[in-house]
Amino acid sequence: MTTIDEIKQSLEIVPVPGIKRSVIGLNMVREINVSDGKVDILLASTGMITEQQDWVKSKIQEAVKNLPGIKDVVVNYSSIKAKELNKIDRIIAVMSGKGGVGKSLVSGLIAIALNREGYEVGIMDADITGPSIPKMFGIKSRPSGNEDGILPVLSKLGIEVMSINLLLPSEDDAVIWRGPLIGNTIKQFGEDVLWGKLDYLIIDLPPGTADAPITVMQAFPISGVIVVFTPQDLVEMIVKKAVNMARKMEKKVLGVVENMSYLYVPEIDKKIEIFGKSRGQELAKVSNAPLLGQIPIDPELARLCDAGEIERFDGDILKDLSESLRKILLTTSN
Ligand SMILES: Nc1ncnc2c1ncn2[C@@H]1O[C@H](COP(=O)(O)OP(=O)(O)O)[C@@H](O)[C@H]1O
Ligand SMILES: [Mg+2]
Repeated sequence: MTTIDEIKQSLEIVPVPGIKRSVIGLNMVREINVSDGKVDILLASTGMITEQQDWVKSKIQEAVKNLPGIKDVVVNYSSIKAKELNKIDRIIAVMSGKGGVGKSLVSGLIAIALNREGYEVGIMDADITGPSIPKMFGIKSRPSGNEDGILPVLSKLGIEVMSINLLLPSEDDAVIWRGPLIGNTIKQFGEDVLWGKLDYLIIDLPPGTADAPITVMQAFPISGVIVVFTPQDLVEMIVKKAVNMARKMEKKVLGVVENMSYLYVPEIDKKIEIFGKSRGQELAKVSNAPLLGQIPIDPELARLCDAGEIERFDGDILKDLSESLRKILLTTSN
């Protein structure tokens, strides 16, 4: 006899159109009942238009009918709000005291590192004023949705991405919004986006220590914050400000990342500290948090970001980042 667990297992391969994660991964299966060879499945219709619902229904019937002893499969839909389906284990916010330090790049690398470890990962591009995540990941397609929620777009490696850039009429449209509107949009990302089951959601925060990052941090149950900085003048003051802000909001600082630490010149086998002497260790101490990485200026990395192919990046930077993430995440509870 087929059990409910076996039915669930067979649904692992039924994808939701447009995102390609399974109905199980997106947590859309609400109820399964089996009696006398008849299976009743109740599914959330969240984010799907009628044609998509019909398609998923037929795929579910195909998958379940093949199981031993099953004669009939009935699929019904129920309208459920996205936020009721979201089960996110940990939310990590990436912040910086100022713009242009590589906050988005580090958010992207963290997501890739966790994805390569086998985790289900999403990135929320909450930097409404400079949304750059979709470009780095080469994402052009638009999210689809219905009145109960919108589906994120899946990257090539299977990372869920949501950004205001994916919702604007044209990718190049500038976003000039007032504070409250930014706050509302971000809240909607939490409530209306069907992230489904995720191990980690990485939030690329707006830069600085003004209202915008605070609004985002208040809107989500963030497990911890990672602070990105570059070795430039006044960096200590900027990092302190960011760390204090996180502390004031009672968010744990999981670690700090120094970006653009140096440039390695292979011809002379030398590291040149272009933006000044590295302050990584010193600032980790000031922040009372571990130094998760010192990322060099890497022309190949910049090229891949520009080409929308950050996921093809490989190298010690990513390995080191994975290693330090593993250390801090294993020792931190929610
Ligand atoms: N370590 C690095 N090596 C090469 N280019 C980098 C590095 N870090 C950032 N960049 C480039 O610098 C620019 C700004 O980075 P970005 O992550 O968008 O900054 P932020 O999100 O803090 O504004 C991007 O074009 C990015 O590709
Ligand atoms: Mg950015």
